[in-house]
Amino acid sequence: MKPRPSIFIEGLEPFIDTDLVCKPSPVFSEMEAYAKEKNIPIVTAATGGVLSHLVSFLKPKTILELGTGLGYSTLWMFYGSKSSKIVTVDRHEEQAKLLEVYAEKMGVKDQMDVTRVTGSVLETLEEEMFWIDTDFYFVDCDKITYPKIFQTLWPKAKKGSSFVFDNVLWHGRVLHPDPKKPSDMAVMELWNAVKSQVSDYTLFPVGDGLLFFRK
Ligand SMILES: C[S@@+](CC[C@H](N)C(=O)[O-])C[C@H]1O[C@@H](n2cnc3c(N)ncnc32)[C@H](O)[C@@H]1O
Repeated sequence: MKPRPSIFIEGLEPFIDTDLVCKPSPVFSEMEAYAKEKNIPIVTAATGGVLSHLVSFLKPKTILELGTGLGYSTLWMFYGSKSSKIVTVDRHEEQAKLLEVYAEKMGVKDQMDVTRVTGSVLETLEEEMFWIDTDFYFVDCDKITYPKIFQTLWPKAKKGSSFVFDNVLWHGRVLHPDPKKPSDMAVMELWNAVKSQVSDYTLFPVGDGLLFFRK
């Protein structure tokens, strides 16, 4: 994967993530180092902090995460709302299993109620309506799936449920989206769908842009 540019001025984002984010466990920094070394995309530490705070305010009974990665964002959400029941979906099982490894290192594995599902996000959503009662959706998988995910979840999600999509600034590409790039088009399509169908939404310009809205 090619390195993707930050939306912040040179050097600011690493400074924020290293010096200004309050991390509930030093293992988060270890996960960041591992993700960097292995070129695994994860949310930024600042994004993790915002996610954690959002769930700490909302106290969702159930969280559905689409895109586990190595469990970095899952663990941030766990720290924000320890009683939430989390389901997290990823097609890359070997990588997603690291969630348990890091939870163990943090000493929180036994406190977590997390179910990992291995498979395609869209197939998982379409196969079964297990998600219908979800209180908080966090979406961080392939951008080309974003419009379809919104289209699938939004009409059926329960009233009051919350949605967060990561990468909605798409490394600044939203300024000049390339019509030949499917991921650029998908992020723009998500924005158009949200702007036309959601009455109230908030962009947190943290990390690569977090879009929050409620049904
Ligand atoms: C950006 S990473 C998730 C990072 C994670 N949220 C974090 O911050 O720690 C995206 C993940 O989504 C998974 N993924 C992408 N598209 C998917 C799809 N269509 N179905 C299942 N998994 C998908 C990839 O395997 C990858 O692990």
